[in-house]
Amino acid sequence: MAKIFFKKTNQILEVDVNVGETLLDAAKKINISEITADCKGNCACGTCHVHIDDKWIDTIEPIYMASLEPYLLEKSKNYNEKLSRLCCQVEIEDAYDGLIVHLLEN
Ligand code: FES
Repeated sequence: MAKIFFKKTNQILEVDVNVGETLLDAAKKINISEITADCKGNCACGTCHVHIDDKWIDTIEPIYMASLEPYLLEKSKNYNEKLSRLCCQVEIEDAYDGLIVHLLEN
């Protein structure tokens, strides 16, 4: 179990998720409207783009470069080479307890 914090302007939303679930699962549990996840977590749309907090980025498993994730991120608005990730591609681990994720304006 890990507690995840989603931050948007002037608001922090928190949710508990199980190890093995994804950041997208976490966002769905609390109905985060900024993450539309049009492809339902299949790494095909880029609409689950977030920024991982700078203090946490080195804790998160790196992007699997053979996937579509780097391609989709580079095409996304607010792309940040260091901090951008797709929620559907980040699987929760125990070490992610307290993770801070920044929501982006579409
Ligand atoms: S939900 Fe479509 S890329 Fe993540």
